[in-house]
Amino acid sequence: MAYDDLRGFLDTLEREGRLLRVPDEVLPEPDLAAAANAAGRIGEGAPALWFDNVTGFTGARIVLNVHGSWPNHALALGLPKDTPIREQVEEFARRWDDFPVAPERREDAPWRENTVEGPDADLFQVLPLFRLNDGDGGFYLDKAAVVSRDPDAPDDFGRQNVGIYRIEVMGRNRLAFQPVPVHDVAIHLRKAEERGEDLPIAITLGNDPVISIVAGMPMAYDQSEYAMAGALRGAPAPIATAPLTGFDVPWGSEVVVEGVIEGRRRELEGPFGEFTGHYSGGRRMPVIRVDRVSYRTDPIFESLYLGMPWTEIDYLVGPNTCVPVLKQLRAEFPEVQAVNAMYTHGLLGIISTRKRYGGFAKAVGMRAMTTPHGLGYLKVVIVVDEDVDPFDLRQVMWAVSAKVDPAVDVITVPGLPVVPLDPASSPPGMIAKLLVDATTPVFPDDRGHFGSPVRDLPETGEWVRRLQALRSEGVR
Ligand SMILES: Cc1cc2nc3c(=O)[nH]c(=O)nc-3n(C[C@H](O)[C@H](O)[C@H](O)COP(=O)(O)O)c2cc1C
Repeated sequence: MAYDDLRGFLDTLEREGRLLRVPDEVLPEPDLAAAANAAGRIGEGAPALWFDNVTGFTGARIVLNVHGSWPNHALALGLPKDTPIREQVEEFARRWDDFPVAPERREDAPWRENTVEGPDADLFQVLPLFRLNDGDGGFYLDKAAVVSRDPDAPDDFGRQNVGIYRIEVMGRNRLAFQPVPVHDVAIHLRKAEERGEDLPIAITLGNDPVISIVAGMPMAYDQSEYAMAGALRGAPAPIATAPLTGFDVPWGSEVVVEGVIEGRRRELEGPFGEFTGHYSGGRRMPVIRVDRVSYRTDPIFESLYLGMPWTEIDYLVGPNTCVPVLKQLRAEFPEVQAVNAMYTHGLLGIISTRKRYGGFAKAVGMRAMTTPHGLGYLKVVIVVDEDVDPFDLRQVMWAVSAKVDPAVDVITVPGLPVVPLDPASSPPGMIAKLLVDATTPVFPDDRGHFGSPVRDLPETGEWVRRLQALRSEGVR
């Protein structure tokens, strides 16, 4: 099932019992964010949250926590809601191989229904804004997809980028945003500024659920997010032409904001409670002038609570971080079996691999740190044998506890890049990275005495089936 817009997905979530409409009148602050924060505190499987009775707003419709559970993530991919996470990642990886699927260009995008432009462009008239955490410096658009083009290759569809970057609302038609240097929009902006130009952008809010997944996904610079969305949806992604910039934007978005990032201008942006579970301070960041806003009638405003993990973002950028790192790593090391990089957008990753020879697992771990995403994340890498499931943390902890010789298998590499948001980085953006080789040494690395592993008894498989059968018959 492929959803062409957020509304279609919300209908499915509601039918599947995965969307909770909050009937009570609530305050925009602190209720909306506190409710979304609470969604991450009520155990596995929290629903999306819908609010349409918010004090001070007329007709506001706000949705939070749309991707904020494994069942909702499964439904976003068109899978049954009870699909286990490991299977969701495997299916995601299978669909990746269908890339690229050309998008389908459509006319009559629903967001063409209403337009304000020039001096009339006023975000406060269109969006029911509210703050998320007590220490945030302002209102944020934190689940929007930002579309920009490479100024050196404006007609190259693959280099057109669609990414999620937090955006602070500075005024009725002014925004500031935070592009981490390793990310594509930062490259586009650098090129524009080197030319002495502004960088046009389109910001789309309230997108279909797969657009949010690909926009937050660390793909290669020249890979098109729309072509990946098509692969993941199993159907071409519907796109439309944004009227002012001419950029390709999702056909079904609720709101499309167009304007420019003003070249060589910086203003104080932040603080903002981040995915690391810490605030990022206020820093000088690029600013955006809004020139045109197009929107559906009665647009649904989608937002995402960020704070101490786990929150919605951890589901949203779980599988979509594991799979690119797996594919990029496997391109050079086909021995790699699986990657679990679901922790804090991959600041920590666990890799299982077969080995060619002694030292091989360490080489795999080092390479992971230099994949496009690893460069700015993957601060801690744990490598385990091929028969250890990186998604089963009990197995991983067994491997670390039983296989590691701290004298040889724990390696720190100082002076490497990391996202400046990493609260441990010092100065921001610089860190030492840690590699833990928890694999069994192989020739010529003859350390330890691993020659006699205890294997499950031959009869264990049969007994697993018998016990499961007895249990399903109600024997306790
Ligand atoms: C909710 C959310 C907020 C994010 N905020 C930022 C941000 O402020 N700055 C940033 O550079 N990346 C941010 N990211 C991460 C990027 O979207 C993600 O790493 C993506 O892969 C970047 O793609 P790119 O390399 O094509 O730019 C955010 C992701 C999500 C899901």
